[in-house]
Amino acid sequence: MLVEVFLFAVLVFLLWKTFSKPPGLPPGRWGLPLVGYIPWTNKNFEEQVIDLHQQYGDIFLWRMGTQLMVFLKDYKLVREAYSRFELSDRPNWETFRIFEETTHGIASSNGLFWHNNRRFTMRQLRDLGMGKSSLVGAVQHQALKLRKTLAEVVGTPVMIPHQLHVSVLNVIWHMVASRQFDAEDKKLQEFIKLMEEFVLLSNRMAIKDFLPWLENIMPDFLFKRLIKYHGIIYVKEKFIQYFKEEIEEHKTTLDSDNPRDLIDSYLVEIEAKKDDPETTFSEWELVFILFDMFFAGSETTVNTFTWLCCYLAAHPQVQRKLHAEIDEVLPSGALPTLAEKSRMPYMEAVINETMRACALVNFGLQHVANNDTQLGGYTIPQGTVVNTTVTSVHYDSRYWDRPKEFKPERWLDENGKFSMAKEGFLPFGVGKRVCVGESLARMELFIFTAMVFQSFAIAPPPGKSVNLTPDLSGFFFRKAMPNEFVFTAREQ
Ligand code: HEM
Ligand SMILES: *[C@@H]1O[C@H](CO)[C@@H](O)[C@H](O)[C@H]1NC(C)=O
Ligand SMILES: *[C@@H]1O[C@H](CO)[C@@H](O)[C@H](O)[C@H]1NC(C)=O
Ligand SMILES: *[C@@H]1O[C@H](CO)[C@@H](O)[C@H](O)[C@H]1NC(C)=O
Repeated sequence: MLVEVFLFAVLVFLLWKTFSKPPGLPPGRWGLPLVGYIPWTNKNFEEQVIDLHQQYGDIFLWRMGTQLMVFLKDYKLVREAYSRFELSDRPNWETFRIFEETTHGIASSNGLFWHNNRRFTMRQLRDLGMGKSSLVGAVQHQALKLRKTLAEVVGTPVMIPHQLHVSVLNVIWHMVASRQFDAEDKKLQEFIKLMEEFVLLSNRMAIKDFLPWLENIMPDFLFKRLIKYHGIIYVKEKFIQYFKEEIEEHKTTLDSDNPRDLIDSYLVEIEAKKDDPETTFSEWELVFILFDMFFAGSETTVNTFTWLCCYLAAHPQVQRKLHAEIDEVLPSGALPTLAEKSRMPYMEAVINETMRACALVNFGLQHVANNDTQLGGYTIPQGTVVNTTVTSVHYDSRYWDRPKEFKPERWLDENGKFSMAKEGFLPFGVGKRVCVGESLARMELFIFTAMVFQSFAIAPPPGKSVNLTPDLSGFFFRKAMPNEFVFTAREQ
């Protein structure tokens, strides 16, 4: 009898040891092995995260399935975390690997491949945008197309036209492959459909990342159906085929001394490093860099501009000030270039305030600890995924006065001039993984906003108001709800 009691006590102790949270970890939701902490609540994820920050402070932990997650809220803590080498890797998730053995490209990869691909792309974006003006020209051209489409729907209630999508994609096509498509082009239409499909399919891959043991207990075909494996593979192969065709075409017309675009420059780099046994440059990597350019660079820009239209339609007094600035700096329909940017502080304030208020990217900031490390006085064990909640940083009243209000003036000094860069703002992330496309995105937003609002005013349809509640159903973004607008032509 005594022996049984003793063994039982040992068992309880061991279970307690394995089930309980090791000391030194941040406070939060620990739960059970394999499944983690499952909340019984009808609050949505974002509301729960807000509650947990209120309960535990700037850093808390939540075991989800087998994955240990740490959530950060304070801007300074996030900045400190994401500047660390130990916290600059992406998690080794299927969501990032997409059924490759290892990751490729920039956004999903780690180590030397990430470093070299990122450096190459940053240099490309710098050369294309700043030095030579060809990219500015392409952005203007695409903004003109958008303006033409809007001119055709003046006075009638419409959603933001599909041409916005086409224009933004074309800027990227121009940058990577010196191509721009018409909206009616079959190839472009198919490309857009594939991108949408990929986004729809891809959220199921997270099942594999959070409940990896399911794969071992489920029949293979069922598991593959659950994570929509075949759909993903189909779309992925299609993209690879697109990009490979483009690369092949570039190879036949390449002039190494005059690279035309990103693909050309990368091909030159492959050639230059072909005798280096440690080279990371290959056509296969290039395919995934192209993937990244389209996936990181298009929906982000499209949704930010859509939010900007929503905020301007909802705030006529902001729009009036913007119109006044445009009319002063760009009289009689002059085309905006980067030279006017410094004379348009109100426009930049509107763009910044849009990015602060919409806090668009709510999924894209996961980093993983590649080693045990300390943060905010707690231990972050290797393998912990660190997630920042952009919303909580952008709505933190320690940094923002009345954060719920849309107020571009908060970015300017009392004379309406540029004031200092603000803390508590990270639409493009921060630290070693900060967005490589920030300057391109800002240039597009600047030129699109200037050219569209030079010609038009925007308002909700008569008797309606703009719905500014974010659509949280998507996995990657806090999109704007579908809103209708009426554009009217302006005299200049
Ligand atoms: C308004 C538009 C945009 C927003 C709000 C945005 C936001 C972001 C954010 C939040 C990250 C993640 C940072 C992190 O992991 O800590 C990111 C990464 C990235 N973005 Fe953007 N982005 C935008 C436009 C673009 C454009 C136009 C491009 C390129 C053409 C681009 C390319 C990338 C790439 C390649 C990464 C991965 C960087 C890395 O992992 O090292 N983005 N972006
Ligand atoms: C907009 O935000 C950027 C990045 O924080 C900053 O450098 C810039 O000064 C801001 N613009 C204005 C008008 O405050
Ligand atoms: C992890 O950190 C320890 C102690 O700082 C260091 O000795 C070790 O090399 C690190 N491991 C990796 C993979 O960076
Ligand atoms: C990270 O936090 C954001 C904001 O709360 C959330 O939308 C996103 O789904 C989280 N990501 C993961 C993997 O938990």
